[in-house]
Amino acid sequence: MTSIAYQLLESHLLEGTLSPGEEIKLKIDQTLTQDSTGTMVYLQLEAMGIDDIQTELSVAYIDHNMLQTGFENPDDHEFIQSAAAKYGLVFSKPGGGICHQVQLEQFAAPGKTLVGSDSHTPTAGGLGALAIGAGGLDVAVAMASGFYFLKVPKVLNVRLRGKLKPGTNGKDVILAILGKKTVKGGTGYIVEYSGDGVKNLSVTDRATICNMGAELGATTSVFPSDEVTRAFLKRHGREEAFVPLAATEDAVYDEVLDIDLSAIEPAVAKPHLPDQYEKVKDLGMVKVDQVAIGSCTNSSYTDMMKVAQILKGKKVHEDVSLVISPGSATILNALSKNGALAIMIEAGARILESACGPCIGMGQAPKSGAVSLRSFNRNFKGRSGTKDAKIYLAGPETCAASAIAGYITTPDSVDAVEEPDHYEHATNYLIYPKEKAARPKDVKMGPNIKPFPMAHPLEDGFEKTILLKASDNVTTDDICPSTAKLLPYRSNIPELSKHAFSTLVDDFKARAEKHGGGIVVGGDNYGQGSSREHAALLPLYLGVKAIVAKSFARIHRSNLINMGILPLVFKDPADYDKLKEGETIAMKDLKASVKSGEFILTAGREDIPLVGDFSEREKAMLLEGGYLNYTKNRRA
Ligand code: F3S
Repeated sequence: MTSIAYQLLESHLLEGTLSPGEEIKLKIDQTLTQDSTGTMVYLQLEAMGIDDIQTELSVAYIDHNMLQTGFENPDDHEFIQSAAAKYGLVFSKPGGGICHQVQLEQFAAPGKTLVGSDSHTPTAGGLGALAIGAGGLDVAVAMASGFYFLKVPKVLNVRLRGKLKPGTNGKDVILAILGKKTVKGGTGYIVEYSGDGVKNLSVTDRATICNMGAELGATTSVFPSDEVTRAFLKRHGREEAFVPLAATEDAVYDEVLDIDLSAIEPAVAKPHLPDQYEKVKDLGMVKVDQVAIGSCTNSSYTDMMKVAQILKGKKVHEDVSLVISPGSATILNALSKNGALAIMIEAGARILESACGPCIGMGQAPKSGAVSLRSFNRNFKGRSGTKDAKIYLAGPETCAASAIAGYITTPDSVDAVEEPDHYEHATNYLIYPKEKAARPKDVKMGPNIKPFPMAHPLEDGFEKTILLKASDNVTTDDICPSTAKLLPYRSNIPELSKHAFSTLVDDFKARAEKHGGGIVVGGDNYGQGSSREHAALLPLYLGVKAIVAKSFARIHRSNLINMGILPLVFKDPADYDKLKEGETIAMKDLKASVKSGEFILTAGREDIPLVGDFSEREKAMLLEGGYLNYTKNRRA
């Protein structure tokens, strides 16, 4: 009666019972960090005062903040490299590739657990790993202690049958699922794929599908580990990492969705959410100004080779800027040796280094009002760096064909791609740690690295102002924008806090300073999007005590608790309408409320009941002032 998801949870269960909603303690085999969240992770490890990590393998990647237009990013890179050397982590240098692509090629393995401080960590589910995106502090604790706490999710079974038509991609599959289930549809679920169609999908297509399970709000996504998995590992020189994984025939699932792969059509997600599904053939004529191919979703060798095939002998449309970022140095090197890179350049593409690049707004902001078509996973407003740009998401085949045509279209035909028998990994971008005795004792902290802002134990009551009343689907990008200008300040919270909530209001910091902190009110799915804990750190630094919303996205809710901020939901969602921005509210008996889960917010003469459904550990963290204080108190 066991799904793959529950087999993996069971084999790593340290404490708790496997029933949905229960909090369990899970053994973690691997962790990963990227630089934009990683600086905080390593500042947190420093604050914990540990000198060794407990995981089998931890990798620190540099792939997000790659521009070096000032000292800030290189300071961060140096700090992370020195932390990797001190704590015994593998360090992936700038240019080595996007964390999830390199993890897939070189480290992820079926049957392993992986926690990463990046919301697309579930990409490794394409290889049969249980890979979860988490807040930086969760990852720091996973490294320090070897475990991670998780509320047991339900399991959504997606049964695949048939075979993808040429010209369609794993991307079109997940866009179709997003169209059906929406950006909230996976919340509280692990998405597990099964069925006859699985064997017809490559590991990279599987990884693309798992990658964008994050856009469904799913805890993670996972595929079986089969002969396709074994062949992938063999090509990457890691066949010994193979273990088979399959659900038992009588596995029980909480929900089932059937997808016929042969009926999947090339599709896009229209601006500005990944669930705005539309088949390309139904789209009408949409002229494109920019096409960007790459990101952790679609930058594999096979994706790149299909792009080269479509571009061969053609010319990028004169009104289009086509940028291509291969996912890893391994892939870039293979393309340079087999001639595919030359084909791209001859067609007029701009080749970017192997990194997140435009996906995180690091360069290549489109012109004002532009249409940008991207093979990426997110199209939130402003993420491209241009507020009024319209971002469409699509598979790389559609992107390449559109770059030539100048409007969104599909290629006439695409042949299957032969993968090399053996990939030559670009290992010179990796720095492995020394034996423990030979490791440096100190980290290098340049002037851009500011200490981690500590929370204080919970006060029993407060009278505060509603600093902001937001509507549904507030993203972590809204709370902490990730533009090229701001990314270098990820290790500098005082500087970054000037931009808190800046896509929603211009003066949040001034409001918070004027009122001595306050609370924020939100609608449904508050904190969706990336895992960035800065979206909780900025409110902490600005004195926000509670976020009151109709519902929360999972990772952000955990991040708020980790920072000692109360995430509370309306008992009756209609009460949202009773609260006004700028009014003063009061809350009392908070310590007892944290324990009971029942809160009262008083606004004028109105008592509004709120709920905080916290596990025992979450209660302790909130009372003690966040996860770092909680961990320190228990290490003392
Ligand atoms: Fe990087 Fe974009 Fe993925 S920022 S990790 S390529 S979602």
